[in-house]
Amino acid sequence: MRPEKDIRIGVIGLGYLGLPLALAFSKHFKVKGYDINERVLSEIKSGKDPNNELESFSINAESLSFHSDIDALYDCNVYIVTVPTPVTSLKLPDLGPLKAASKSVAKILNKGDLVIYESTVYPGCTEEDCVPVLEKYSGLHYKLDFKVAYSPERINPGDKKHTLENTVKIVSACDNDTCTFVKTMYERIVKAGIYTTRSIKVAEAAKIIENTQRDLNIALMNELSIIFDLMGINTLEVLEAASTKWNFQKYTPGLVGGHCISVDPYYLTYKSQELGYHPEIILSGRKVNDNLSKHILKRTLQFLEYRTDTEKEARVLILGISFKENVSDIRNSKTIEVARELIQQNVELEIYDPHVDAIKLKEEYDLELVNEIGENYDCVMVAVKHKEFESFDEDYFLSITNENPVLIDIKSIYKDRIHSMRYWSL
Ligand SMILES: NC(=O)c1ccc[n+]([C@@H]2O[C@H](COP(=O)([O-])OP(=O)(O)OC[C@H]3O[C@@H](n4cnc5c(N)ncnc54)[C@H](O)[C@@H]3O)[C@@H](O)[C@H]2O)c1
Repeated sequence: MRPEKDIRIGVIGLGYLGLPLALAFSKHFKVKGYDINERVLSEIKSGKDPNNELESFSINAESLSFHSDIDALYDCNVYIVTVPTPVTSLKLPDLGPLKAASKSVAKILNKGDLVIYESTVYPGCTEEDCVPVLEKYSGLHYKLDFKVAYSPERINPGDKKHTLENTVKIVSACDNDTCTFVKTMYERIVKAGIYTTRSIKVAEAAKIIENTQRDLNIALMNELSIIFDLMGINTLEVLEAASTKWNFQKYTPGLVGGHCISVDPYYLTYKSQELGYHPEIILSGRKVNDNLSKHILKRTLQFLEYRTDTEKEARVLILGISFKENVSDIRNSKTIEVARELIQQNVELEIYDPHVDAIKLKEEYDLELVNEIGENYDCVMVAVKHKEFESFDEDYFLSITNENPVLIDIKSIYKDRIHSMRYWSL
């Protein structure tokens, strides 16, 4: 096995996953980071995290460097692939970035090298889809000339409690020796411990079911919330009451967007269908969560129609457009769907989000952000529980709204604090 002092790591893809990993490993090993996005690289080189997750970081030029040319990583011997695994518009796995990254690594792969995949994939993907690309473009043979490992990531953007360092990391590899080597390597940066699985497929499956389970649990809450809305019952009150039983699992309803929970189950269902089994429960949950934005839109429009001055367009303020609280990430944000639909309905819409980059929102979704909250709104929709919004109260909402306004409080932030305004939550 390679001695630690000879380990030279190349991290492929410097996003939410790759950058913290490169920084952590660079405290123990020589690391080179590679990304195809020049803007990402120039921000990182200037000491700024493009995703605003890391408050500050310093780059030790002795052990860490960043590159846009894959050839610069030629002297690395361990490659860690952390590129996106999105879905297509038809909700099918898009392995484009993963295959492109594998091809780049293959070009500089040498005998004795190791490739570790960290991107979330369906069971079998690493060895059935990525390894053939490595073999094809390197001319080397899997297991004989180079080894492969898989270690899924569990970091949770915006969450300062569950970090790379204090969350148990799953590690798997193509053989026992490689698995031991990878375990030892990750032990240097993960204090919570390493869990090894017998095969790569088990590690791939473990990661994907963590997110699938969460998706399904939220889907159940979302469905319950639609039912309770028809019954005139407040969902949160029901959940609080039910949570007094020892075995009730408390999840809360909400929009499920982002690049993990709303995407990963489709990787699993794709593979399942390819093997001839149609997964009923997982796909039903996805459907409920994907359609929740329509329910929120319908209820919002119903409230707006109660207005008497119908000649005037309703003015709506959305507070929070990122996919979840306290992050700048707008990928697959379901609030974006609500916003677009409101615009379609001729609503005069303003969106305020102190975490989101206005240029990115415009470029990627053609939506404008306002720099500050205005006034004379007929409806305020608080879509995300950003810390900046939590202290708002009824007086504040009344000060920025017209007569008879409605507060759509998707995450029930203001439950029991609104008395005279019309109020709706999930
Ligand atoms: N973000 C998370 O919290 C999180 C948590 C667990 C697992 N994951 C998984 O990790 C993987 C990466 O997610 P992320 O959120 O870090 O993505 P990201 O979009 O933040 O970053 C990916 C980076 O890879 C770069 N890239 C794309 N194609 C490339 C290529 N061919 N070669 C080199 N670089 C390339 C992009 O420019 C980008 O900077 C995904 O599979 C995701 O599901 C993410």
